[in-house]
Amino acid sequence: MRVIIGITGASGAIVGIKLLQNLNAEKYLIISENAKKIIEYETFYPLDYVKSLATKIYDNSSMNEDIASGTTKFDALVIAPCSTSTLSKIASGIADNLITRVASVALKEGRKIVLVPRETPLSPIVLENMLKLSKLGVVILPPVPAFYLKPKNIEDVVNYIVGKILDSLGAEHGLYEPYSPQ
Ligand SMILES: Cc1cc2nc3c(=O)[nH]c(=O)nc-3n(C[C@H](O)[C@H](O)[C@H](O)COP(=O)(O)O)c2cc1C
Repeated sequence: MRVIIGITGASGAIVGIKLLQNLNAEKYLIISENAKKIIEYETFYPLDYVKSLATKIYDNSSMNEDIASGTTKFDALVIAPCSTSTLSKIASGIADNLITRVASVALKEGRKIVLVPRETPLSPIVLENMLKLSKLGVVILPPVPAFYLKPKNIEDVVNYIVGKILDSLGAEHGLYEPYSPQ
């Protein structure tokens, strides 16, 4: 499986990093400039370590790349976390950087897209954009905890969210235990 992973400048960079750590696939990684700052601010992981988790790294400002073309096959695009700015650009057909270009390619080619938007509360503009994308088959997967699984710490919450992303890709994992009624 070949998966393109975009990390954008929303809070929750750890979700993208943990996805890279747990996804067993060919991983093509694009990190936006804002995401680089947030990785540094929110996590203890050096940028070079994050990049080392990927099969191939792309520069978000470069359009002259294989994955900017529909002729390059990939199985899925996951943007985690996905800023509301990037989500709204995708919904509007704006392709002004490599992440949004790959998303527009994935949309036109009918490929799987999973977006992990982190924002709260959500404005009507963002909600409309989410609905528009959802109707086009895009999986909108906000990083919302499953409180009923009784997470003990943030790691449990992140594991659950990354597990849900992997579920939507059809990838095996042991990141969370399914709900079991007592
Ligand atoms: C510390 C910090 C946290 C941010 N958190 C969010 C967030 O959770 N959600 C969001 O949509 N934007 C957030 N932003 C704003 C985005 O980084 C900004 O809209 C940026 O233009 C997104 O660009 P990108 O999608 O190309 O990374 C945050 C910015 C900073 C500096």
